[in-house]
Amino acid sequence: MSKCRICGGAVQEFFDFGRQPVSDTFITPHDIGTEHFYRLAVGFCTSCSMVQQAEEVARERMFPSDYPYRSSGSSVMRRHFERTARHFLETELAGPDPFYVEIGCNDGIMLNSIGGAGVRHLGVDPAAEAAAVARAGGSRVRVAFFEEATAAAVRLADGPADLVFSANTISHIAYIDSVFAGAAALLAPGGAFVFEDRYLGDILAQAYFDQIYDEHFYLFSVRSVQAMAKRFGFELVDVAHLPVHGGAMRYTVARAGERPPAPAVAELLAQERRRCLAEPSTYKDFATTIDSNCEQLKALLGSLRAEGRTVVGYGATSKSATVTNYCGIGPELIPFICDSTPEKQGRMTPGSHIPIRPPAAFRDPYPDYAVLFAWNHAEEIMAKEQDFREAGGKWILYVPEVQTV
Ligand code: SAH
Ligand code: TYD
Ligand code: ZN
Repeated sequence: MSKCRICGGAVQEFFDFGRQPVSDTFITPHDIGTEHFYRLAVGFCTSCSMVQQAEEVARERMFPSDYPYRSSGSSVMRRHFERTARHFLETELAGPDPFYVEIGCNDGIMLNSIGGAGVRHLGVDPAAEAAAVARAGGSRVRVAFFEEATAAAVRLADGPADLVFSANTISHIAYIDSVFAGAAALLAPGGAFVFEDRYLGDILAQAYFDQIYDEHFYLFSVRSVQAMAKRFGFELVDVAHLPVHGGAMRYTVARAGERPPAPAVAELLAQERRRCLAEPSTYKDFATTIDSNCEQLKALLGSLRAEGRTVVGYGATSKSATVTNYCGIGPELIPFICDSTPEKQGRMTPGSHIPIRPPAAFRDPYPDYAVLFAWNHAEEIMAKEQDFREAGGKWILYVPEVQTV
């Protein structure tokens, strides 16, 4: 058993994916043999219930200057963050001369809307190339990992922040105590720290096992975030369930005693109790489902190959690293994956070494089947690629269960 990164309690492992590569490191043939692998295993803390990984990958390996993920590749996510920005401009940032800090701003998908409204702002992100895109969009960005020291430097240079916001990043940070210490150093009195991340409740309900990969060090629930906030001198004062990325939760935390908690906190906690989110048996069932889905996917791909059907992948996601490496799926089963991100095209998936091609390769000619690794963007992708189904093609999904549609 390992020790909980939040409270020091005992962490009970419930699934071991074995040797896995760094999920967002898309390689060239030259890199084969030099890839970094680690043991991807997850467990839950028997004290504070936080779901977390047993081993940590060094942050510089996961988020180098040429980190290839670009948030703005999805029009649904662009709309989501435009709406989110408008919401904060009318609430947390409605006072005189507000200051907005964003942790993990990536290409500026959210930050550019805040800066564009004339609000003082600063993004903090170590991914220099993504940060350059945000800067080209008009935003101010500091290329750095957010932690206590970064926060102190920002506070000294720019003064206190009214809102510290972060999307799909806080759960990536194993050293989260330092992030909370940074938020405490940076926030103005009455300020809020708001973060949204994929939600454990949805991951369990829909068997989204491929949300488990190096970057998702923690899988948050309302219960575990409430305990974590308390431990670090904050209080969870609001929660909102979001439909993005297959199900996410927005958590609002404030300094303890500064804001009364909204009724949604108690409601979601009760829902989590009903859904047995802190029960060991829930994780045992999840582990059984993971193995069953993987077996079925391997069997399906094997029989399609035996029948001489053509199969490709769609979306070179980080999630696909877990699926392809755990299931042993390589170019012999899926000859290529198409992806709209120029930074990924012409490279290969980590560990499984499947070539990545632009979406134009999908139509040239259409395959019989396509495994949708970007299932969280299913609506957007299926609409854009409707000719595929009209030509007789079928999508393969492996969550919540293996099926062709
Ligand atoms: N907020 C965007 C990007 C999420 S990807 C979205 O929701 O789509 C995660 C981002 O967090 C990456 O750009 C990565 O470089 C950044 N990141 C990782 N660790 C960080 C840290 N300690 N401080 C700031 N940014 C970090
Ligand atoms: P995403 O599921 O957001 O992230 P993660 O890597 O965290 O699992 O990644 C979606 C990937 O799918 C990204 O590489 C871009 C690609 N994509 C397309 O190729 N076409 C599309 O229409 C969309 C929305 C995404
Ligand atoms: Zn704990």
